[in-house]
Amino acid sequence: MRLHMLPRDFRWGVATSAFQIEGATSADGRGPSIWDDFCRTPLAVSNADDGKLAADSYHRWHEDLDLLRYLQVTSYRFSIAWPRVQPTGRGAVNTAGLDHYDRMVDDTLAAGITPLVTLYHWDLPSALQASGGWASRDTALRFADYAGLVADRLGDRVTDWCTINEPLCCAWIGHLEGTMAPGCRDLRSAVHASHHLLLGHGLAVRSVRAHARQAASLGIVLNLSPCEPATASDADARAVERADGHINRWWLDALHGRGYPSDMVALYGIEVPIEDGDMNTIAERCDFVGINYYFRVRVVADETVATLRFRQIPVEGAPVTAMGWEIYPSGLRDALIRVTKEYGATTLYVTESGAAFDDEPDSGGFVHDPQRSEYLARHVEATIEAAENGAPVRGYYCWSLLDNFEWAYGYRPRFGLSYVNYATQHRTIKHSGLSFRDIIRQHRNVPTGEAADQLDGTSRR
Ligand code: FCB
Repeated sequence: MRLHMLPRDFRWGVATSAFQIEGATSADGRGPSIWDDFCRTPLAVSNADDGKLAADSYHRWHEDLDLLRYLQVTSYRFSIAWPRVQPTGRGAVNTAGLDHYDRMVDDTLAAGITPLVTLYHWDLPSALQASGGWASRDTALRFADYAGLVADRLGDRVTDWCTINEPLCCAWIGHLEGTMAPGCRDLRSAVHASHHLLLGHGLAVRSVRAHARQAASLGIVLNLSPCEPATASDADARAVERADGHINRWWLDALHGRGYPSDMVALYGIEVPIEDGDMNTIAERCDFVGINYYFRVRVVADETVATLRFRQIPVEGAPVTAMGWEIYPSGLRDALIRVTKEYGATTLYVTESGAAFDDEPDSGGFVHDPQRSEYLARHVEATIEAAENGAPVRGYYCWSLLDNFEWAYGYRPRFGLSYVNYATQHRTIKHSGLSFRDIIRQHRNVPTGEAADQLDGTSRR
């Protein structure tokens, strides 16, 4: 692995999100979120799983901190649960809820680990959903208020912030496909939600900058998937344009000051509720783009699919994870290079990369998961290739520190570098955790003169 191609201060991290690991859904004044509600919807979540206990991380933070130390990560990406901070999504701070994250920040920094705080990882307070959720403009304004409250309290120590995680999932999966909270199936709501999520992002960037007492580095997190046609036909070529527009360009264009792609506005046929100044707010200057990458999308034209008229089909014979997601590391390289070349990104983080496999602990409780170790090694290599091609990638966060609640799939898919025995809540580092730590150590041991930031541009290859 050509780890010397990465800058010396390259961040090695793991990522989690509040609802997926914390449990304690009614502790210390937390209000209900749309994911608590979605879990109660019949047949919405596999096995009728819910987030009430999850990995109990709200109570086991110190155990998780030990895992972070053991893995020798230099950064930890975690999310703050909005309904812990503002149980109804508006009004005064619930101090007990914010205290929890305050302690986490102190502990993380004391361990020499840089916190990367995500402000919204899908747990919208239910009370805001009752007044329209992300389909309503008011939610973007409430989000900016909440971001300001968090920055007021944590912004003297936290320097790195992600506003919104994967607006695609909230808007398209949550409001159009309906298989994530809030479980709505309506194109108009989805398009409106997409705009308000982006608006909320831009407003939150301003709000954090205004409230934080330290210079803040801010960005959004997008899940990008390179799209490619199933055949060389014209119909598939046009279908790929639509898929790419829906998955990638809709977000990237708006965030980079290009407005919404006109082909997609025409395709959706829904008036986007843009008010004066919105597009400037959405394109507010950011410090980085976070990229979550899991798979590429192979696209076939299909006139029977409403509005979008394309379908994703599996790549025949390709290796897949336990989610059925294709293992295709080059897609990560391509996504990083694209955002650099087409959108002029100046700092990129791989904010999530990881895989679920059917882990089975041996009689001693240890998980041998060479597939996950291999997956990570190959995705780190793809990140290095992107860096060699000029992508300014500054960190790689593995999804995830722990096995956790995988949304509508429940607890069956295990993404952790640590195995969680849900009956006892006992955590055990997997083989992949050890190999990730090895990568981190190897990078740390790159001799000074060989580190990428010591080389001049010409000798990078
Ligand atoms: C991403 C989500 C994250 C996790 C991984 C597997 O889309 O951001 O919460 O579920 O997928």
